[in-house]
Amino acid sequence: MSAQNQPFRMTSRRGAALRGQALVPGDKSVSHRALILGTLAVGETRIEGLLEGQDVLDTARAMRAFGAEVTRDDDGIWHVFGVGTGALREPDNIIDCGNSGTGVRLIMGLMATSPIAATFTGDASLRSRPMGRITDPLALFGAQAHGRRGGRLPMTITGARDPLPVSYTLPVASAQVKSAVLLAGLNAPGETVVTEPVATRDHTERMLRGFGAGVTVTDDGAARVIRLTGQPELRPQSLAVPRDPSSAAFPVCAALIAEGSDILVPGIGLNPTRAGLFTTLQEMGADLVFENRRDEGGEPVADLHVRFSPGLRGIEVPPERAASMIDEYPVLSVVAAFAEGPTTMRGVAELRVKECDRIDAMARGLRAAGVEVEEGPDWWIVHGRGHGGVAGGVTVETRLDHRIAMSFLVMGLATAQPVTVDDGTVIATSFPVFEALMQGLGAGIERVAA
Ligand code: S3P
Repeated sequence: MSAQNQPFRMTSRRGAALRGQALVPGDKSVSHRALILGTLAVGETRIEGLLEGQDVLDTARAMRAFGAEVTRDDDGIWHVFGVGTGALREPDNIIDCGNSGTGVRLIMGLMATSPIAATFTGDASLRSRPMGRITDPLALFGAQAHGRRGGRLPMTITGARDPLPVSYTLPVASAQVKSAVLLAGLNAPGETVVTEPVATRDHTERMLRGFGAGVTVTDDGAARVIRLTGQPELRPQSLAVPRDPSSAAFPVCAALIAEGSDILVPGIGLNPTRAGLFTTLQEMGADLVFENRRDEGGEPVADLHVRFSPGLRGIEVPPERAASMIDEYPVLSVVAAFAEGPTTMRGVAELRVKECDRIDAMARGLRAAGVEVEEGPDWWIVHGRGHGGVAGGVTVETRLDHRIAMSFLVMGLATAQPVTVDDGTVIATSFPVFEALMQGLGAGIERVAA
């Protein structure tokens, strides 16, 4: 965090209904990948709708350090002049990925099969997160990793001089791990194969194909197998980034719980590997209508019409849906607090190793606000209190986690007493216009003096 970016508190309170259009920014996952693949294609890749959140800006800076020219014009279009697979430059300084697990893990994969070394670090949150899940498969290509105890950043990766192709079965459902292996496979000869027992977001596979790489995917119901032919010549692309469903989740959930709300969220990405939250909300009785379904830039999108839904019911969220909504559990737990009866979320151990332990962070804040929460290592249950039943009146710790901050600010729009978060700066990592967008809808969210 820079010196001019001092922490500030934010408060939300119950008040007006939310009305109008919520134009959420570009998808974070797609934005990272657009910059990274643009770096590997010789010539100019043009990106429209890139998320200008801190996580993505940190990846743009990293791509410059590896030799790409990355610029933004006055119309907000980004241009990446790439160097080609196998032609990455060795960075002359440490790569700081800030708060971004996706950034650091994908970039480690990107450089692991090039004969260069790079040292990575990040903020206190990122430095506490496990990197062994990435360095284990990268070692199979011949890369070496030297980090802190427990595989933590700062960490130096020395790329393989003579990389071998790899066949790897994901031990955890992680699109970051899958993507790191595929990116490493780009500069290895022969075929790299990734098997995922549970399908995770597939933006890397889709975009690799768009850039001209040979990628085939088979799914026999038991596993998804991705085969990549190494050392392709990637062709620069003109890309349009869909609006981020994970960011859309915040105004959508706010409108469901704030009395009288009626909003439209246009053009959000609805890739099935990302859309689990919306299915879950519909099962809870949410008034969500998808309009104008279409395809944009290789990704399905739609406009989402959301209305206040007073009769929400708690449900059992199927564990097999977890990967398709992994970033949305915090805000789902807020909606669950306003539903009737328990909402049970199982198969979600990954939530404990996100930007913070998200089960713990949400459970503490919800309990302080008067909501009963049970939890175990990979499950939690939120006992809903129904519309109007949540007291609020708390200040919660955001723990360097943007989604924790935004989730509790959404909660405060429907609690009896206001809700305060101790640090609103973290929101800029993924949703820099959150405050203005929510205020534009009429939400009572504002900064408060520390
Ligand atoms: C992401 C994958 C997910 C998700 C993260 C973005 C990606 O992480 O939580 O916000 O862009 O690949 P995991 O791969 O750790 O599940």
